[in-house]
Amino acid sequence: MEPISVVTVDMIINGRPQQYEVEARQSLADFLRDQVGILGTHIGCEHGVCGACTVLMDGVPVRSCLSLAVSASGHEIVTIEGVKDLPLGQRLQQEFLEHHALQCGFCTPGILTTMAHFVAHYPKATEEEIRDALSGNLCRCTGYHNIIAAVSAVISSRHDDAKR
Ligand code: FES
Ligand code: FES
Repeated sequence: MEPISVVTVDMIINGRPQQYEVEARQSLADFLRDQVGILGTHIGCEHGVCGACTVLMDGVPVRSCLSLAVSASGHEIVTIEGVKDLPLGQRLQQEFLEHHALQCGFCTPGILTTMAHFVAHYPKATEEEIRDALSGNLCRCTGYHNIIAAVSAVISSRHDDAKR
């Protein structure tokens, strides 16, 4: 049997510099959940389809089930635990609650993470653009209508703030 290759990785996770020994073949999703012990990143399909495992790497959404933990070395990772504390993350959570934009909640961390990036970069997005941005995040419960309403409300409220 071949020896398991172990690699030292350095990364910033939710604002904290950290160093770990990881198996070279370990996915970023498994690493975050099993080794770092932060469980907000969900694992659904494990092959890049559902978006439940989405995290931000250097500010860009990535599928952590398809990324290796070693590939995150030297980078900054923000999981839903970090997103939820950002001002935009808090506004999204509030509107998700007000619009009943979740049911079982399994998809929600990935969707909030994806939308936090999207709203920050597309502050004037239309409903069609929101739908397009959500196309990589599967939700089996809601039918998406209330999710889109919640994201639209965040975008509208940011416009209102800008006018004040
Ligand atoms: S678990 Fe990663 S995309 Fe589904
Ligand atoms: S709320 Fe259940 S999968 Fe989206």
